[in-house]
Amino acid sequence: MVASRYNQGMNRTFVNLDGSLVAPQDAKISVLDRGFLYGDSVYEVVRTYGGAPFELDAHLARLASSASRIGLSPKWDAARTRVEIDRTLAASRAHGTDAPDPQAAPWNRGERYIRVVMTRGAGEIGLDPALAIDPVAVVIVQPLHGPPARAYVEGVKVAVVGVRRPSPLALDPAAKTGAHLSHVLAVKEAREAGADEALLLDEQGFVTEGSSSNVFAVEEGKLRTPPLGAGILEGVTRGIVLRLAREERLAVEEMPLTPGDLARADELFITSTQREILPVARLGERPVGAGRPGPVTSALHRAFRRVAGGPVRVSERR
Ligand code: PDD
Repeated sequence: MVASRYNQGMNRTFVNLDGSLVAPQDAKISVLDRGFLYGDSVYEVVRTYGGAPFELDAHLARLASSASRIGLSPKWDAARTRVEIDRTLAASRAHGTDAPDPQAAPWNRGERYIRVVMTRGAGEIGLDPALAIDPVAVVIVQPLHGPPARAYVEGVKVAVVGVRRPSPLALDPAAKTGAHLSHVLAVKEAREAGADEALLLDEQGFVTEGSSSNVFAVEEGKLRTPPLGAGILEGVTRGIVLRLAREERLAVEEMPLTPGDLARADELFITSTQREILPVARLGERPVGAGRPGPVTSALHRAFRRVAGGPVRVSERR
């Protein structure tokens, strides 16, 4: 089932490898590439609305910042990356539209997922980054598989997992790198608990973020989220949500949160490029608030839909 989705997806996957558009099965990089050997790479995930990349400037700025934080010289600068994204999207568009997925949320139908990866390149095997000689740049475009419409109506389940987020002293959380094993293991643990997303704590037990999302709580009418100093990625969606919340005159507190704070919250939601604002209905085995998406989450999602092109059109949504 999973393998067949992968095979079907390959028909609709468009790859740009170092500036050449190649079929996914021909998109090959060296086994000596440090991205493969060590996760020595940076990446971004962007999505389209109406076929156009959303918040591309912010994503390209973060890509450059990630690279500089780990001392990686990317093969392409932002201007070239933008051109190569456009070329890859155009190839994907030329292929035609996908069969509509009846489960998809309306704002995801026909849209594209864009992954940009820059590795430090290949070279003699060894940890020393100075051994890298041949940086690689990749753009991958696929149909976007965001959460189904149902997830926005019912909310999803998240689980606080045992795997901790690596200390900011070990790995700069603001750099979006390919070194992802702790997050892979966090997702494995969440799936085993029947949860859609893993929430990771830091070494002191404070909430940091999801495996690929930021987390927000609503309590006493206030919107709360861990500060950047909690050791999290500065999510592009998180930034938009904070701005919208202030525009909606909601009290916003960027403050350390414990799992207990999340358990007491009236509402929880997670944010990411692919998910927008996704309500959380269950935290582990316990319902969050009334066990369904709450009014603040819904209002913020409506506001988000206005900036991201169109209303919330999940008809069952109240
Ligand atoms: N992940 N935190 C982490 C650790 C992430 O990997 C992501 C994004 C986010 C949310 O950031 P944004 O709102 O800019 O997407 C927070 C991407 C989507 C991914 O790896 O697929």
